[in-house]
Amino acid sequence: MLKLNNIAKTFYLNENIKDPKHALKSINLHLKEGDFVTVIGANGSGKSTLLNIIAGSLSVDEGELFLNNIKLNKLKNFERSRFIGRVFQDPKSGSIAEMLVEENLFLASKRGKKTSLRWGIRKAQRLEFQALLASLNLDLENRLHDRMSHLSGGERQAITLLMALMNDPLLLLLDEHTAALDPKTAKVVMDLTNKLVKENKVTTLMVTHNMNDAIKYGNRLIMMAEGEIIFTSEGKEKENLTIEQLIKKFQEKTGNDLPDSLILNK
Ligand SMILES: Nc1ncnc2c1ncn2[C@@H]1O[C@H](COP(=O)(O)OP(=O)(O)OP(=O)(O)O)[C@@H](O)[C@H]1O
Ligand SMILES: [Mg+2]
Repeated sequence: MLKLNNIAKTFYLNENIKDPKHALKSINLHLKEGDFVTVIGANGSGKSTLLNIIAGSLSVDEGELFLNNIKLNKLKNFERSRFIGRVFQDPKSGSIAEMLVEENLFLASKRGKKTSLRWGIRKAQRLEFQALLASLNLDLENRLHDRMSHLSGGERQAITLLMALMNDPLLLLLDEHTAALDPKTAKVVMDLTNKLVKENKVTTLMVTHNMNDAIKYGNRLIMMAEGEIIFTSEGKEKENLTIEQLIKKFQEKTGNDLPDSLILNK
């Protein structure tokens, strides 16, 4: 359903174009409907660039992208947002702090739609929002009239996830969305993510620095290094992967040790 064919992206770090950074080098990646793919790799290996290119916040230099046979290359960021939900690392980035929880949910429900932004949340819609919040099991169902800024980071990420899934996107992109949370909250949000991805049967790409999560969740894992996919594993093989095997694979493919930032994050 998602096809990336020979995607390349180079950044020119300064005016001296002799110093290019090849953030993505001819990436080929095909996802099937319902795939839940975890993405790991060292800092700067191109994980966020990959997600930014799929979402359209960055343009590609080379290659073609298709989502259910819709060619994405020519669609702008906001046009893709109808099909693609996103959650970022920073709990503050997914919602508007000064607005109420229900106003944020309302805005999300309008995302990518052509209808004008008429304010006024109907009673039926408010009940819908309340039911959605109740489904999180985080005691948020009575917080519709709270400002978003009054919620904790974990609560905000949980609501951002709901918002990202609100219009039944074809694809969900998660970029280290639990990395800014304390370990206990990160686990709550990760379990919730798994539940929502499965219930919504949404094809998902999840970048994580947590190797245990990368192994535990999803049906497929990809490892990136220096702008390339250097290892991929799926199905039964992935279920039986160990952190030691991943460390060894990285070593074999790159000749370097896996950075501590990944290893320590068990
Ligand atoms: N907008 C940009 N301008 C210039 N260079 C960029 C830009 N975005 C990314 N890069 C560079 O491209 C490379 C890949 O960056 P990217 O953010 O994709 O890495 P990452 O795998 O997400 O890393 P991290 O784990 O630290 O989030 C890095 O060297 C980065 O400095
Ligand atoms: Mg990143």
